[in-house]
Amino acid sequence: MAFAALWDSLLPLGRYAPTGGYRRFSWTEADAACRAWFKEQALERGLRATCDRNGNLWAWWDCPGSRLGAIATGSHLDSVPDGGAFDGPLGVVSAFAAIDLLRAGGFVPARPLAVAAFSEEEGGRFGLACLGSRLLTGVIAPDAARGLTDASGVSLASAMTAAGLDPAGLGPDEELLAGLGAFVELHIEQGSALTGQGAAVGIAEAIWAHGRWRLDFSGRADHAGTTRLEDRRDPMLPFAATVLSARRIAAEHRMLATVGKVIASPGAVNAISSSVSGWLDARAPHEPALEAAVAEIGQAAEEHAALHGARCDVRRESFTPRVEFDAGLRQRLGGALSARGIAAPVLPTGAGHDAGILAAWLPTAMLFVRNPTGVSHAPAEHAGAADCETGVVALAAVLAELASR
Ligand code: GLV
Ligand code: MN
Ligand code: MN
Repeated sequence: MAFAALWDSLLPLGRYAPTGGYRRFSWTEADAACRAWFKEQALERGLRATCDRNGNLWAWWDCPGSRLGAIATGSHLDSVPDGGAFDGPLGVVSAFAAIDLLRAGGFVPARPLAVAAFSEEEGGRFGLACLGSRLLTGVIAPDAARGLTDASGVSLASAMTAAGLDPAGLGPDEELLAGLGAFVELHIEQGSALTGQGAAVGIAEAIWAHGRWRLDFSGRADHAGTTRLEDRRDPMLPFAATVLSARRIAAEHRMLATVGKVIASPGAVNAISSSVSGWLDARAPHEPALEAAVAEIGQAAEEHAALHGARCDVRRESFTPRVEFDAGLRQRLGGALSARGIAAPVLPTGAGHDAGILAAWLPTAMLFVRNPTGVSHAPAEHAGAADCETGVVALAAVLAELASR
């Protein structure tokens, strides 16, 4: 099937009309619709559809008689709140389209091929990014994962049970991993480097070190209309000061720090908050800069809290070290693309991906498709139709190179 028709078949699922963004949170109705779409695409192509113990979806183009590891491709179907259409789905749709292209050209693989859609890549519901690939590889303990809760207090275990999966099965899957030879994830570019270089497709070099920290400021709730300013212990003030400190410290360290989520409790307009929780997302090219900057931000948070008679607790929720993609695989990708006349610059990225988690277990690589808006994790995220087609051609070329021997 042509890319455009395949893309259009997924597009309405989980779209939130008021913002034009996507709310595809794991183990919800929208997620179930995306999963059903995936299974349907697999079955239409005669691919064997499976869901692993960690909720990741697979569509296998089996290769009877071959003992070689499968070449896997794909990405994820979940989204951040009001995310764009492309982050994740572009990799899954392109994977099915690339298989169609290979078959139309009569390609006969020498080893299995697989399309994957990893679960909860964005951490949009349970807070931990790349949860499906972390579970698959054992980077997170199953008990810790089962206990993760969403904003309404529903645990991952309950959400999976409600969706018909057994959370007792969560955990590392050595057998599945042992059957994989390499993973190539195609993804929308989350920036404008390809536009700047006039290229439709790029190859990932590395992923910056990154992590998430929870900052809990606690103070004392009181009346907004009667409490004198000097008598207040308002946790909102050190929180606000910490957001500004994070920005200054990030600039000094030439890295990135963002507070994109905040919860003030109890959340009354006419009351001083009793507590304010904010989530810090911090990313840097290398770990030492990231660790130094986050330590400075934590120190600033404590100082701001003390100044306002409040308390601050900082807790790391996740951390992913810098990932260098496999140099040999990268070279093979570059060779396959230049043989097709596709010039693909090599780019680093600050965004996290399942390919980054899997990189510690098997050779992984990534292809980026140009994003003319440069925007990601928001409805303005975009890739042009011609570039998406080039992405499919590029992915098919790469899969043919890797699966031909
Ligand atoms: C995922 O897209 C991330 O970089 O957080
Ligand atoms: Mn993302
Ligand atoms: Mn993504």
